[in-house]
Parts: sequence; structure tokens; C-alpha cells
Amino acid sequence: MDDGYFGESVAARYDQTSAEMFEPAAVEPAVDLLAELAGGGRALEFGIGTGRIALPLSRRGVPVHGIDLSRAMVARLRAKPGGDAIGVTIGDFATTRVDGGFSVAYLVFNTIMNLTTQAAQVACFRNAAAHLVPGGCFVIEVGVPDLRRLPSVPDGSRCRCPAAGTCPSGTSPPEVPFSLMQARWLARPLVALVVTASAALLISSVPAKPAHAETTFVVLQMNLCNSGLAIGTCYRFGRSVDEAVEKIHEYPPELVTLQEICRDDLYSPTGWGRLAQAMAGIYGSRHVSVDFVPAVDRDTNDWYRCTDDEPYGDALIYHYSGRGHQSGWYQSQDGSDEARAWTCATVIRARLTACTTHLSTDPDTAARQCRELRATLTESWVQPEVIVAGDFNLAARAGTHDVRRCAPAGYDRRGDGSVQHVFFTRNIQWMQGEHLPMRFTDHPLLYEKFRV
Ligand SMILES: C[S@@+](CC[C@H](N)C(=O)[O-])C[C@H]1O[C@@H](n2cnc3c(N)ncnc32)[C@H](O)[C@@H]1O
Repeated sequence: MDDGYFGESVAARYDQTSAEMFEPAAVEPAVDLLAELAGGGRALEFGIGTGRIALPLSRRGVPVHGIDLSRAMVARLRAKPGGDAIGVTIGDFATTRVDGGFSVAYLVFNTIMNLTTQAAQVACFRNAAAHLVPGGCFVIEVGVPDLRRLPSVPDGSRCRCPAAGTCPSGTSPPEVPFSLMQARWLARPLVALVVTASAALLISSVPAKPAHAETTFVVLQMNLCNSGLAIGTCYRFGRSVDEAVEKIHEYPPELVTLQEICRDDLYSPTGWGRLAQAMAGIYGSRHVSVDFVPAVDRDTNDWYRCTDDEPYGDALIYHYSGRGHQSGWYQSQDGSDEARAWTCATVIRARLTACTTHLSTDPDTAARQCRELRATLTESWVQPEVIVAGDFNLAARAGTHDVRRCAPAGYDRRGDGSVQHVFFTRNIQWMQGEHLPMRFTDHPLLYEKFRV
């Protein structure tokens, strides 16, 4: 058995790249709840990793055992103070059994998403139930959006909020699928579910919706400044890619639009690069597509390249495997050596085209490129609905360089208040959006959620 995605290279950086999740504000509420649910009994962590939750829980006096596929992650746990007090079994938490009964089993940090088939998730719930003593609980922490789209089932499972006011607003228990217990553990939009052993079996009988039937569509737009050329301004020695991976895990998107990346951020000699791997970790490798377009170096007539010699450019990474990629380089270019490009892909067949671009830093050129892109969106291969997200280097500010001047007719727009925008056809219903700071690049993350 190999270590899976969380092998040596990921394990070596895991605590650093997930630093925010190691903050007391993220850890302590989770540990409080788990210690309360353990109630003097034992706790079992599925996907124990480097011990982010298990170690502080163990320090509270709760005996903890873990199951994990990755020897590399577990080696990091073992090397930490108190690591030797925690028993770990190497194996798949969907099927691996350990001895004894547990008051609480838990699976946090969206790790359920590592199981990419319904059968594996059902097996995981059965496995949790099989380890619980009567009255024991199985706790799952996973992003809210997928939860809220699950179909409801009749009453019969236990429901409570851990403390008054801890249910997310508008989600009082009766409205919540399965009437599950909810707790807002973290400042970010995650929700914890706690189910009893019997409820776990109830959940396991609910059919999963196939991915292509999903209607909620999250877009993450990021300019990662990862060429290596901008040392002293925005380049941070690859850490923006780690940060983007964190964001993909934190806000599981259907579509990621990227600029200023290197091809090896998407593809490695052995498979996906880190950014694509992050999406594959959510949906499974076969359910993720990547569309990369390099900029052209007009001096050398070769690809424009990152300092590691990899082609540099823009990309789409998306859930689903629609077909039909179209890319191009603008007729209008500025005086620099970098020839700018756009790329589009059919993300949902016969339904949705997604595109990204990074326009010139010269406003006149950017405005002309934007108009070229607008014309491209009238071509016959473009599906009825369209989302275009990117760095336009133009703001939505009155004047000759107002990005709204090149907006295609029939499109709405959302932006980060600066130069990143998402245009979308009006049949696409916008649901929620925000822009969030990023530490290792000079643009915020633009998060937009739609119903497509
Ligand atoms: C995102 S990390 C979470 C680690 C830790 N629970 C935390 O909160 O920091 C996911 C962990 O689950 C493990 N994992 C993923 N899929 C697994 C599976 N099917 N069986 C066992 N472990 C798995 C990985 O090796 C990794 O250590």
C-alpha cells in the first residue's frame, strides 16, 4: 500500500501549508467538542495525519487511536512530543478495523472527500459504526455546500446543537438534512456533523447525486504570481501554490481559474502537479480536467517561461470532464515580450463554457484584448451558458478603461474591487461571493458561488 496523495513530499510540508488549521482558533473548538463526546471513553480518528487534532485531544486525557494510509504523515505525528502515546494503524479508514470500542470516531478537515465513490463512503460510515460503543458518535467535518444539497430523510436520527447559537444562521436543526447535529467549529464555512451509530447506517442508505447533476457551481479565481521573475514584488518562492492548494481544500470549487502559473504546477512527471492534484483529491483524478495555455515569448518565438524553464501561463482546472478546449493569443499585444492568451473549455457538455485570461498591464491594450475576447464568446463552439474569470488588468471604474465597457451583452459581473473579474451569462444565478486575502501573492482570492 502506498501513501496516496499524502506521501513524503506533501507530508514534509503539511503542517506548514495548513498552518491556519493548526491555529488554536481552529483546533480548540474541535478538541473541546470531541473531548465532550468522548466522555471518558476512547476516540478513533480516521485520517489522523500528523496529529493536528489527535495530539491536543490526547493531551486532554482522551485515549486516541488513528487510522491512516500515509506512513509519511504518521512519521511526522510520531516525531512530535506525545506522538508515542497514540496508537496508529496503517490502512484505509473505509475498511480497516482496530480493536476495542470507541465513544467517538471522527473524520475532519474535509477528509471524507478523499473517498471518491459512494461505495467507499458507505463503507466508511459502516466502519465508523462498527467501532462505536452504544450511544457513540461519528463526527464529520466537511464544507457546508455539499451538505446543504443532500436530500432530506425522515426523522429518526439525533439532533442537537452543542450550544445555543452555534448552528449557522438560517440552519436551525429541523431544516438540516438528516436532522444532524451541527456545530460551527471554525471561523471558515465548515460544519461538523455528529451522528450516532444508528444514524450513520441511515445515512449510508442515501443515494449520492452523480457529480454531473450538481447545480451549485463554485469558482475560485487566483493570480499566483509564480513565474519566479517577480522577485522583490509578488513572487514568494512557490508558496502561493501551497496557499492555492489550501484554498481549494477549504472552498471546494467546481472551477479554478489561474494566471501566472508554471506548467509544472499542473502536471508533474508522475501525474498531476500540486494544483490539479488538489482538485483530484476532492473529485478523484478521473473527474478533473486541466486546460493550460502558455503565453508566448515574442523575442524568442518560444513559450514564455518561468524561471524553472517551465512554460508560463493561465489555466482552468475543473471538476467534470467536458470536452472541447479552445485557446488563442490576442491580435493586440503591448510592447513587452509576453504575448497574452485566453483559453476556454466546455465544462458541462451542451451547457457551460468556462474561460480564463490575463490581459495586458497596458490599459489600452487590455481594453482591446477584452473586446477580442468578447468577440470570441460569440463563436459557435461556445455553450449557452458562460463563465469567464480572470485577471483583466482593468477595473470597473468609470472612464475609458472601465472593464464594464467590454462586458459582453447579457452578462453580469462580479469583481474583487480591483482587476480580477468573473463575467457570467444571466441565466446563471449568482448565489454568494467574496474576495479573501492571500498571503503569498499580490491578488486576493475571488470566490464566487453560482447555481448553473
Ligand atoms: C487533510 S489530511 C487531514 C489530517 C488530519 N486529520 C488533520 O486534520 O490535520 C488527510 C489525511 O487522511 C489520510 N487519508 C486520506 N484518505 C485515506 C483513506 N482512505 N484511508 C486512510 N487515510 C486516508 C491522508 O493520508 C492524510 O493523512
